[in-house]
Amino acid sequence: MNLPEFSATASIAAVANVYESDLLLDQYLLFHYGTADDQLPYAEGPREALFYPVRCVSEFAPAIGPIERALDLGCAVGRSTFELSRWATAVIGVDLSARFIAAAESVRETGRVEIRRLEEGELTTRLTRSLPPGLHPERCRFEIGDATDMRKDIGQFQLVLAANLLDRVRSPVRLLNSFRALIRSGGHLILSSPYTWLEEFTPRSEWVGGRYNSGGKAIPSLEGITRLLATDFELLLTTDVPFLLREHARKFQWSVAQATVWKRS
Ligand SMILES: C[S@@+](CC[C@H](N)C(=O)[O-])C[C@H]1O[C@@H](n2cnc3c(N)ncnc32)[C@H](O)[C@@H]1O
Repeated sequence: MNLPEFSATASIAAVANVYESDLLLDQYLLFHYGTADDQLPYAEGPREALFYPVRCVSEFAPAIGPIERALDLGCAVGRSTFELSRWATAVIGVDLSARFIAAAESVRETGRVEIRRLEEGELTTRLTRSLPPGLHPERCRFEIGDATDMRKDIGQFQLVLAANLLDRVRSPVRLLNSFRALIRSGGHLILSSPYTWLEEFTPRSEWVGGRYNSGGKAIPSLEGITRLLATDFELLLTTDVPFLLREHARKFQWSVAQATVWKRS
């Protein structure tokens, strides 16, 4: 029966489009550029989980210090790329979504962002927000690209950030193996992921963790990641980074990513 093959193709097409949709574009613009009250206008709620794209940089970059080149893989609409420009003199943000990259580029050019915030049903509110001071958009460049198959002449970086990307690519092994060439000796990798493994993004056979091996042994994601990185990287830090993604006025996703910081030997 051909049905499974057809569903696989259909689900790959759906995944290819999900980050091109209005819904996700609006969600990510708010996630990256909305104020605390824009995102969570309630007295209750995990405020410490706001500004994840900022914290993925601000919680780790100070210990790394000023650098020349940084790379933000799976940059979406670009906030972490701009945050990296506080530390690096040249930053490249790469994402597979042409719409996300166009939005990031528009923020870079204008310093402003138009956000359409979903309230309920088809009701939305329009917000205009600006890039905060202290960022250097002129140091940033955005490009469409596949993090698991980077253009050969992209060069090397002293810092690579991959936030919430590992469990969204088709081949996490390829992604993890690519860091060896992308990161200069002595450079750093910030890898953050909630390990939400889903077959519509990553075939089960490609999951680096969150599964049982053929002998029935449980392989946590950090163990699978370490197995692939340990020959070229030293694990410096492991920590939890909660984040809150607003779906609409009364529905939020609260997740806890695990961030690891690695140093290239
Ligand atoms: C869950 S979002 C995370 C975005 C951002 N880093 C953040 O933390 O808000 C995953 C992002 O990875 C991008 N993406 C998925 N597969 C990719 C690939 N192979 N290469 C580059 N970007 C990819 C998606 O378009 C999306 O912007």
